Amino acid sequence: MKPLILRNVKLNPIVAEYVNQFYDVISVEELTAENAHQIEVLLTNGTGQAPKELLDRLPNLKLIDDFGVGFDGVDIAECKRRNITVCTTPGVLTDDVADLALAHILAFSRQMCLAHHEVVSGAWAAGHKSLGLGRKVSGKRVGIVGLGRIGKAVAQRCHGFNMSLAFYDRYLSADKAAADLKAMLGVEPELTRYDDLVELARNSDYLVVCAAATPENHGLINEEVLTALGPQGTLINIARGVLVDEAALVKVLQEGKLGGAGLDVFAHEPNVPAALLTMKNVVLTPHIASATVETREQMASLVIGNLKAFREGTPYLTALTL
Ligand code: DGY
Repeated sequence: MKPLILRNVKLNPIVAEYVNQFYDVISVEELTAENAHQIEVLLTNGTGQAPKELLDRLPNLKLIDDFGVGFDGVDIAECKRRNITVCTTPGVLTDDVADLALAHILAFSRQMCLAHHEVVSGAWAAGHKSLGLGRKVSGKRVGIVGLGRIGKAVAQRCHGFNMSLAFYDRYLSADKAAADLKAMLGVEPELTRYDDLVELARNSDYLVVCAAATPENHGLINEEVLTALGPQGTLINIARGVLVDEAALVKVLQEGKLGGAGLDVFAHEPNVPAALLTMKNVVLTPHIASATVETREQMASLVIGNLKAFREGTPYLTALTL
């Protein structure tokens, strides 16, 4: 009989193949008072939920092995208190997430979804051209909310589009940000730091949300920020849905106070506010920022490496410092 391992999400197939060699996998739904004490490892992902109520049921939990960079569903304070290690997959998905932010900027501004529809619907061939003009991307102003690994990778790409760069990040000074970007770009970019998110929005054409979600920043992108971004402005969110006040977003889009939005994440996934589904000035994707073959392989390799470290008692590859 193999030891039990718990999952609270569907497993990536590469991870599943490794895990199945050594463990019998059970889901949270299969957890009972009898088997819970056997669980030492929980397999989750960037949006998986491991609240205190679940952790309380797992008295012998030692490792949370997260197939993702986000860990906002995990009760970190409780993990710290109980000395539970949390491993994530940082770094390997940075490029993909930043690429998707740029894909959203371009898709929205150049009306890719509407244009595609115009061709496949036969409207173009029939001479019923209804598509208006898009908006130029190169040379515009981008405001980045959260200039961590992913935010900087977005900045790097936007610099390639000759965009001016500005950011809001409570934990990063202007000097450090400029030095970090200079190291990435080889040149010192024009970079402005804003203490005030509303001011950043007012001075941006694109506001790209890259911050990690914490209980303190839920609803950070509120009606005031969105209104400051304005009728020519575009919100891009590739971070977490809860960072944006979705009701306010729908309202400002309906009232024409915001130009548009490119969203990969939503507050209550997989549910998307119904009003967004019929709007022409939004581009919506189903949380696919890290969903490429190459990146998912690298994420799987880190998750497996951390589980191997647990089994062999060697140092973890990517444990969070709690
Ligand atoms: C992450 O890794 O956190 C991504 O958002 C996927 O969940």
